[in-house]
Amino acid sequence: MYSVHCLNNIAKVGTDRLGDNFTLTDNIDTAQAIMVRSASLHDVDFSHELLAIGRAGAGVNNIPLDRCAEQGIVVFNTPGANANGVKEMVIAGMLLAARDIVGGIEWVDENSDDPNVGKQAEKAKKDFAGTELAGKNLGVIGLGAIGAMVANAGRSLGMHVYGYDPFLSVKYAWSLDRHVRHVNNLSEIWANCDYITIHVPATDKTRGMIGRDEIAAMKDGVVFLNYARDALVDEIAMSEALQTGHVRRYMTDFANSVTTQMKHAVVTPHLGASTKEAEDNCAVMCADELRDYLENGNITNSVNYGAVDMGPMDGAMRLGVFHLNVPNMIGQITSLVSGAGVNIENMTDKSRGNYAYCLLDLGSELSDTTIAQLSSIDGIYRVRAIRK
Ligand code: MLT
Repeated sequence: MYSVHCLNNIAKVGTDRLGDNFTLTDNIDTAQAIMVRSASLHDVDFSHELLAIGRAGAGVNNIPLDRCAEQGIVVFNTPGANANGVKEMVIAGMLLAARDIVGGIEWVDENSDDPNVGKQAEKAKKDFAGTELAGKNLGVIGLGAIGAMVANAGRSLGMHVYGYDPFLSVKYAWSLDRHVRHVNNLSEIWANCDYITIHVPATDKTRGMIGRDEIAAMKDGVVFLNYARDALVDEIAMSEALQTGHVRRYMTDFANSVTTQMKHAVVTPHLGASTKEAEDNCAVMCADELRDYLENGNITNSVNYGAVDMGPMDGAMRLGVFHLNVPNMIGQITSLVSGAGVNIENMTDKSRGNYAYCLLDLGSELSDTTIAQLSSIDGIYRVRAIRK
């Protein structure tokens, strides 16, 4: 029996899929898995019981990935599960930026007691008029699950779309409208685009990537949309560019002490994936990933360990070994197992950066003593035995 602790609200349709082998617990210290949305885990000390964390969403900047990897805790996310929800939010952002719809709504609210409001509205509306999206240039930075959908939506709205993604995967390349112009340099986006939207994760490499110089290189009157993470943008530089009018609007899903004070910003409270459909999809994908890992040791959509799928566990014992990705780890693992007289029937080892995961199907049970010997090898973070 595995126990799962949910931080944040996780849709029931997801937790229901965990099955009879699982129970939900309020106690994080006894849980083998955590399901989380945006609660920060950076200051949480993980108990030795914890085997996996499932992030019901895409961004994982609330989770200490390396610390987890070094404790043999696999971190999963749910790429694409909320992409449609975020795409729709970006479309809303572009429409709200194109005309001052928010200002117009506020004007009606302020004048709602005026018996002549209809007549006054006809005079006032010029203050809220704007432009159309069709025919404008849209730059999409990051063409993953969300960015690719946004790029295609831009095409459907009649926009000319420029896409930038140095790590574009074959899967998303195939999904792109053939008229999306793939650029190799961000300077082409800055020079050409009237609307720019960013869809990359917040990592050490991307933090602050939209800085003062990048903003200065953008077209005058550009609209910048950020439904990814606030840390990607130098928000002080953005504030200044909004004040001078160089940036016409900053549409951001991240309310903080800087964005809430910005002139010409439209700030929403991280609503991108807050739809019933997105929450259900994320919870279902997250639960399926955790279940397959806890029951079978298989890893799909992890952000700190490589993908491994050896199918359902049906042998005598399955062994998961988390180790440093350095020479002779596999040699040490296999010689200890075979030295104990246990046959390795199937084996796979996948690395991801500094970390690797070796999954072995054994012909008979390995003794606790040999498992303890394995665990004490330098560079092995955790050994997990899965029994039927
Ligand atoms: C994500 O990272 O998936 C989105 O920002 C939505 C969320 O955090 O729930």
